[in-house]
Amino acid sequence: MLMVTGGAGFIGSNFVLSFLAERDEEILNVDKLSYAGNLCNLKLVENDERHIFYQGDIGNRFLIGRLLEEYSPRAIVHFAAETHVDRSIHDPEPFFRSNVHGTMCLLAETLAYWNQLSKTDKEHFRFLHVSTDEVYGSLGPNDLPFSEESQYAPNSPYSASKAASDHLVRAYHRTYGLPIIITHCSNNYGPYQLPEKFIPLIISNVLEQKVIPVYGDGRHERNWIHVSDHCEALRVVLERGNVGETYNIGAARSKTNMEVVTTVCSVLDSIKPSENFESYTSLITHVEDRLGHDFRYDINSSKIEEQLGWRPKETFMEGIYKTVAWYFDNEEWLKQVSNKEHKKWLKMHYGNLSKDEDIR
Ligand code: NAD
Ligand code: DAU
Repeated sequence: MLMVTGGAGFIGSNFVLSFLAERDEEILNVDKLSYAGNLCNLKLVENDERHIFYQGDIGNRFLIGRLLEEYSPRAIVHFAAETHVDRSIHDPEPFFRSNVHGTMCLLAETLAYWNQLSKTDKEHFRFLHVSTDEVYGSLGPNDLPFSEESQYAPNSPYSASKAASDHLVRAYHRTYGLPIIITHCSNNYGPYQLPEKFIPLIISNVLEQKVIPVYGDGRHERNWIHVSDHCEALRVVLERGNVGETYNIGAARSKTNMEVVTTVCSVLDSIKPSENFESYTSLITHVEDRLGHDFRYDINSSKIEEQLGWRPKETFMEGIYKTVAWYFDNEEWLKQVSNKEHKKWLKMHYGNLSKDEDIR
């Protein structure tokens, strides 16, 4: 059995769904169901007996200890975290609670569990910590992409909390021998992503005829990877990755936010042209920049490609096309995840995003 934390969120649920589709192994899914965790992400496995869901906080040591003892997982894949950079700028504390203290509690209980396993089970056990490329900070226009040797330089409260959790995970390996692996992935997109993140926000705002807010001049760059490629990389790392090591995961070249928004709009134009046939790019509105906005991320995935044989399969254009089509086919899902807390955030952060009104 695998234990997954945060498996009701965007990447976690994609991981659970794809793992159960491809492997015959049970998953214990522990998620506190924050505003970002939704059981409707897991509807496809609601009748699958191999999926056992527990609503709980990774910071609840008693619960985590009890679950580890009861279910004896062979590995933990740790996704649970607060993840939205803008929210971390608005209020950093929940990020430290879940990402740092939560990870610390999970590690402490995992160590106690691991220490009492048999020698063989101890050797085979893995703690896979799902981290981000944002811990490496921001690249200049001519800097080489992040490698596993890049220095940590987190700039936002979110990335600082993820960096702190990475250091804790590494320390549990160095100090106690816990068999950990850390991955650093670039920006994910795909089905089940909450429309607080850039790509689903563009799609959802177009569906609602709201303006598309682009921070600053839109020349910031991100390396976008389809979530299915990330999930496959995690399965490969779990199976073949070396204990104590880190692996960077990303896709082809990075793109500016303006390239991203115009690509998404052109796909939207082709799938669902607007009533007056005007391109949805007319909805793009430049708004005040994010505080401390990292200028550029790009990532070198040659280690995982050369050592473990993983490669991303999805091109950006195909991935965006599939993603837009998925959101069109799942408007009901969009309504369900647009809960009170999510709506409150959009209203507070952007104001009223109707086409004709000023924002922020
Ligand atoms: P998400 O915000 O969509 O989901 C996070 C999930 O964790 C939610 O279901 C939430 O309920 C749960 N959670 C939060 N705090 C918890 C706690 N204390 N106890 C139990 N559950 C808790 O996030 P995501 O985008 O799916 O990201 C998942 C992981 O992948 C995170 O660790 C993130 O840092 C990492 N990551 C994300 C990206 C990306 O582009 N989204 C890229 C690289 C790495
Ligand atoms: O790099 C991996 C990281 O990618 C993950 O660790 C984070 O959890 C995830 O949220 C993501 O962080 P970003 O800040 O890069 O993603 P976001 O979708 O919030 O923003 C992508 C880019 O788009 C960024 O340059 C900011 C910009 N943006 C975002 C929003 C929400 C806008 O221009 N307007 C917006 O309204």
